[in-house]
Amino acid sequence: ILPPRLVDILNLPAKEQNLRVSGWLRTRRDAPSFSFLELNDGSCLQGLQIIAEHNLPGWESLHKQITTGAALAVRGRLMPSPARGQRLELRADEITVLGTADASYPLQKKRHSFEFLRSITHLRSRTNALGAVARVRNTLSSAIHQFLQAQGFIQVHTPLITTSDCEGAGEMFTVTTLSGTADYSRDFFGRHAGLTVSGQLQAEVYAMSHSRVYTFGPTFRAENSNTTRHLAEFWMLEPEVAFCDLEGDMRLAEALLRFVVGELLQKNAEDLALFDQRLEPGLLDKLRRFTTTPFQRLTYTEAIERLQSSPHPFAVPVSWGMDLQAEHERYLAEELVVGPLFVTNYPASLKPFYMRLDEGEQTVAAMDLLVPGIGELAGGSQREERLEVLEARMRTAGMDPAQYGWYLDLRRFGSAPHSGFGLGFERLVLFCTGSANIRECIPFPRTPGSAPC
Ligand code: 4AD
Ligand code: MG
Repeated sequence: ILPPRLVDILNLPAKEQNLRVSGWLRTRRDAPSFSFLELNDGSCLQGLQIIAEHNLPGWESLHKQITTGAALAVRGRLMPSPARGQRLELRADEITVLGTADASYPLQKKRHSFEFLRSITHLRSRTNALGAVARVRNTLSSAIHQFLQAQGFIQVHTPLITTSDCEGAGEMFTVTTLSGTADYSRDFFGRHAGLTVSGQLQAEVYAMSHSRVYTFGPTFRAENSNTTRHLAEFWMLEPEVAFCDLEGDMRLAEALLRFVVGELLQKNAEDLALFDQRLEPGLLDKLRRFTTTPFQRLTYTEAIERLQSSPHPFAVPVSWGMDLQAEHERYLAEELVVGPLFVTNYPASLKPFYMRLDEGEQTVAAMDLLVPGIGELAGGSQREERLEVLEARMRTAGMDPAQYGWYLDLRRFGSAPHSGFGLGFERLVLFCTGSANIRECIPFPRTPGSAPC
């Protein structure tokens, strides 16, 4: 349907042929009688080198417009290249400038800092690093769908506007109208509503009819997200599975992550090599190990014991019942285990109302997946399927069960054991690219003070 992209052209056999390519000029180097133009169309990291002889028709006026950032269409002959580091080059027969870019174009040849690039989110996807992140994100997203579809999961589109604060952490943004009845707490047609913090509760509805479902979409948190790991708007994958316990939930998370990282290693080798070189030395090895090493498991109680007996000086002292801090998670995943690690069976008091109470009623059937360099990559649980226990947990959490009648109905009518987890998609991109900041892992980061685009 459409003409070939650069990635298709760069994989053609090295024999002469005529073709036409379009893209944006990355760099230009002038020799006395010709110029090297590097064109990129975002389909791959590598650009196509174009040789433009200075006797091309119209060169006199053209060459002033062939500047970094300009959009060009080039007709020419694709040839084997004598230059090192590239198989092919294009000898131009005709160049058309589709759109010029003057000297005020902010992406000039030097390497720009990520901080600077964040101030021009509308242009940063044209750089090598952010261009590669976008391709990596795409592969990971597509591989997630591929894996779950192959396992018989059905994708459910859960709502973004909702009245349920799934995590119960009071981190919901409120929805309001611009026409403003001024009652901001009841502005969704006379009711209170907010932006979803998680699609889980609605995914549970469909798990109770379709057994294996997932939702994968934007979620919102009004927490102060001024860290390198938090966004106010992030994408979350949430599988939800009926007739599945915590153990099955962890097996699913592990198999899914192994698969998607394996796909990434296969499909984005060039992009990952760039990150390995520029952002995280050893990234490729880390990702290869990730696809072959079984994830470790540790209960919360065991984790606390290990932390207490470790010689490591923690800023926050460790005691049973406390929430693990970043320093503790790092120690567990980076020094104790050195690899991905599920911490399970957290104290009930630390976790949301919907997690299934363990025997003894002190802990819940929860899991957090910790990975080196990131901390929490995913979190999930077996859900509380017993009506009375769930109602009691809601009251303990200060919730009004009457407001969650629909959710409790799932326990009244055909209740069944079920489990699920939430994977922070940008955290996965962070892990796979070696980026230092989650703001580089989403096209348009939403954080306090983010750019207006
Ligand atoms: O641990 P969380 O809050 O779990 C839930 O929302 C569950 N309802 C998920 C479920 O069981 N279906 O969030 C899940 C994951 C975290 O492990 C983390 O990776 C990511 O979402 N996450 C964030 N990512 C970026 N910015 C934030 N502010 C995030 N908050 C959570
Ligand atoms: Mg969590």
